[in-house]
Amino acid sequence: MDDLPGLPPNAFAKEDPDDDRDFYVEPRFETHIDDAAIAALTRFYGEVLTPGTVVLDLMSSWISHLPPDMDFAEVIGHGMNAEELAANTRLARWFIQDINAEPVLPLADASVDAVLICVGVQYLTRPVATLGDVRRVLKPGGLIVISFSNRCFPTKAVRLWLSLDDDDHARLVAMYLDRAGFGEVGARRLRDGWTSDPLIVVTGRA
Ligand SMILES: C[S@@+](CC[C@H](N)C(=O)[O-])C[C@H]1O[C@@H](n2cnc3c(N)ncnc32)[C@H](O)[C@@H]1O
Repeated sequence: MDDLPGLPPNAFAKEDPDDDRDFYVEPRFETHIDDAAIAALTRFYGEVLTPGTVVLDLMSSWISHLPPDMDFAEVIGHGMNAEELAANTRLARWFIQDINAEPVLPLADASVDAVLICVGVQYLTRPVATLGDVRRVLKPGGLIVISFSNRCFPTKAVRLWLSLDDDDHARLVAMYLDRAGFGEVGARRLRDGWTSDPLIVVTGRA
């Protein structure tokens, strides 16, 4: 909150205030956006990611949206449920961490080329601290891709997110990245929401 002045005091409160770890105890082998939105995100990753690099899939689960034919030096996963992450065959290694409780990642400075957060940003209660640490682990010039739709677990999304529409979400995420010290921040709508789930990406460079 210190880095996001002007927001109401309960902006990052959740309807369900219980520990996030309790919510993710049971695995969810489901998709959180539809096939067309996933395909659009996979195409976008194919355009902006570089083969042979190190990618961190933050807030991930049992499926990867990375292009299947693109080889990376390493894909590191992070999430909240071990069964989901163990089922994600794209991950070379993974770790579990509640990043709202502890935003500092167990990764070395400047060790990752790209960080992806797909349909997870609405659950961050300390977005500037979390994304600031993401910037630490990214190499200078490294890319962050934050994608989101209009679907979420509403009891676990922050109140601020629930009060905004897609365009405001894009502006909010861009503000998070700006306050966390990212440059070249920009937003793009990949799916309009008429024929599939909407999908918006916000990107920035460390
Ligand atoms: C809707 S799922 C998205 C999973 C995956 N990125 C995808 O596209 O299918 C939201 C994910 O956010 C992550 N998440 C939610 N709250 C978290 C927290 N407090 N700390 C770390 N990760 C969290 C969990 O990994 C959860 O699976």
